[in-house]
Amino acid sequence: MSKTKTSYERFPLARRIEHLVMLLSFGLLGLTGLPQKYPLADISIWFVNLIGGVENLRAIHHTSAIVMMLGTAWHILLAGYKVFVLRERMSMLPSLQDVKDGWQALMYNVGIGRKFPQMGRFTFEEKLEYWAFVWGALVMGLTGFLMWNPITSARILPGEWIPAAKAAHGGEAVLAVLAIIIWHMYGVHLKTFNKAMWTGKMSEEEMLHEHPLELADIKAGLTGRGVPAEVLRKRKRIYYPIAAVLTVVMLAGVYGFVVPEKTALTTIPPQPSPLPVYVPWTPTPVPTPLPTATPLPADTPLTWDSSIGALFAARCAVCHTAGSNLSFASYADAITGSADGPVIVPGNLASSTLVTIQEAGGHMGAFTPEELSTVKEWIADGAPEK
Ligand code: HEC
Repeated sequence: MSKTKTSYERFPLARRIEHLVMLLSFGLLGLTGLPQKYPLADISIWFVNLIGGVENLRAIHHTSAIVMMLGTAWHILLAGYKVFVLRERMSMLPSLQDVKDGWQALMYNVGIGRKFPQMGRFTFEEKLEYWAFVWGALVMGLTGFLMWNPITSARILPGEWIPAAKAAHGGEAVLAVLAIIIWHMYGVHLKTFNKAMWTGKMSEEEMLHEHPLELADIKAGLTGRGVPAEVLRKRKRIYYPIAAVLTVVMLAGVYGFVVPEKTALTTIPPQPSPLPVYVPWTPTPVPTPLPTATPLPADTPLTWDSSIGALFAARCAVCHTAGSNLSFASYADAITGSADGPVIVPGNLASSTLVTIQEAGGHMGAFTPEELSTVKEWIADGAPEK
């Protein structure tokens, strides 16, 4: 028992800080996001009030999102460094072995298999979690952008994408929070209390238990093969400019994400509307009214068949169709009038409600002044059909 305790470095300080940054931004995003997904829940209302209103909630949510985006950018730069400069094995890439390990672990857990899989630097569970996070970050980033910049988005994509993005953002958020609470908590804190992300170290027993293949590699001297300083310097000379460009591009991306629109940030207090709340029913679509009256040839006789019928058809027929309360579909209909009686009284302008209504203005369909005087002339003439 009192053997000297050998420990192995699992996560250098930079990685632990990265994890902490992600933990904090993720936590804040979930904490300020879920009350927005479930705004009517008592606990959401309580929390929003505690924070001082939805504006503050959103400000924290957006700030955390920016932190997470920067953290992701940093992660990408670091991954590039490890792959290109250090030429480290890409230990996080999934492989067929992971599928086999997963199967073996399942068999072991249900009591069929006799041996738990022996795994290396990252177990299949850790890889699953990592790639789930990558997937989640992609979905949340994309849908977050759509909601943060709805106007810009709607220029490129159909408008329906914005409510769809909202639904996906909330759904993925619930999934992610549950994955962290159930899966991550269980795997890292309940199954064994794994402190490696805080101390950076793992004891020999822990290594033997969780990453036996990596331990074997370390013991065999297969890891951390020294790269000659000269080679490193050469690779860095190539990678640093690339990383600089990448950094600028990613920062510009974050800037483009955050700055263009304020719409989602500013909630406008409800204004008393100058428009009437009640809008009378009108059939849709209403055709665009003709821009100008079609001038009638001077010698056209003023009869329903020659000209007046066409005028009614053009201006009034969309609404006053055959069979409606008042139809202008035929001469007979027009002369019959509505349920309230005739609207055209031949030879009597004053009694013709059609004229009074059209002269009063404001009707949903209207003759132009010229057209109206033609119609009036026709009525005064006795409203002939032929
Ligand atoms: C956008 C739809 C629409 C258009 C276009 C329209 N109307 Fe109407 N009109 C109505 C509605 C709705 C009423 C009231 C309901 C009813 O009685 O049919 C009405 C009522 C009337 C009435 C009173 C009927 C009554 O006795 O109750 C007259 C007269 C009338 N319209 C004339 C016209 C004339 C003439 C035109 C064309 C220049 C016209 N309307 C175009 C929708 C329209």
